[in-house]
Amino acid sequence: AAGRITPAALLARKGKEPIVCLTAYTYPIARLLDPHVDLLLVGDSVAMVLHGHPNTLGATMDMMVAHGQAVMRGSSRACVVVDMPAGSYEDTVENAVASASRIMRETGCDAVKLEGGVAIAAQIAAIVAIGIPVMGHIGLLPQSVEKEGGYKIKGRSEANAEALYADARAVEASGAFSVVIEGTVEPVAAEITRRIRIPTVGIGASPACDGQVLVTDDAIGLTVDRVPKFVKEYAHLRDVVTDAAAAYARDVRSRAFPGPEHLFSLTKDKA
Ligand code: KIV
Ligand code: NA
Repeated sequence: AAGRITPAALLARKGKEPIVCLTAYTYPIARLLDPHVDLLLVGDSVAMVLHGHPNTLGATMDMMVAHGQAVMRGSSRACVVVDMPAGSYEDTVENAVASASRIMRETGCDAVKLEGGVAIAAQIAAIVAIGIPVMGHIGLLPQSVEKEGGYKIKGRSEANAEALYADARAVEASGAFSVVIEGTVEPVAAEITRRIRIPTVGIGASPACDGQVLVTDDAIGLTVDRVPKFVKEYAHLRDVVTDAAAAYARDVRSRAFPGPEHLFSLTKDKA
């Protein structure tokens, strides 16, 4: 991974230039985003966004490895972080270390990301101890959607805010180089950012975070299901795809496509 932005370089950005992150699951999207971002996240959101599962619990190790490999092939500059899927790390430290090792070995990515704070501090520390950089993820944890009975914004009560500060400190103390804060009330996300020395990356969090991340498909208006409040749509690719499909269908039905320029004749045979 020579020439890539390293986890250590991102850690050193704390309090300096914001860290720009987007998700990527495929080779072409990685190619297009790589020049513009600091970090490409192969999120387990791939299970929903590309595979149509109802939540991220549908992600598997095989899925994360295959998409991680595609994103590595399509990027050369950004730091690539691959999500550990539900079931690959929560139960035991041994499972966590084995899963993180497989992701690193089979994709060549730069780091892994796990959801949770105090509850998985031992797993983070064990993965870091064998030399694998870890990104944490606290606040709203999509892999806990069934346990929680839905997606609940975090930090609204004083007790919950204290639990989040404890989670942030646990992730920091376990040796993570950065932490995602998701779906958390703004003042608490800002306060976490002030209290820890590793950079925070917000999604539905605060502009005070040390960086921001969005699901790329949401940000480019390609997501066909409901888009959360925290998303800003920078393009409207649903409309572009719909218009292209409708125009193609018209052309095929009217025999306007293929035209002479798309055909091979007997005499000239240029591809
Ligand atoms: O899976 C994902 O896309 C994520 C980001 C939303 C942080 O974890
Ligand atoms: Na994720």
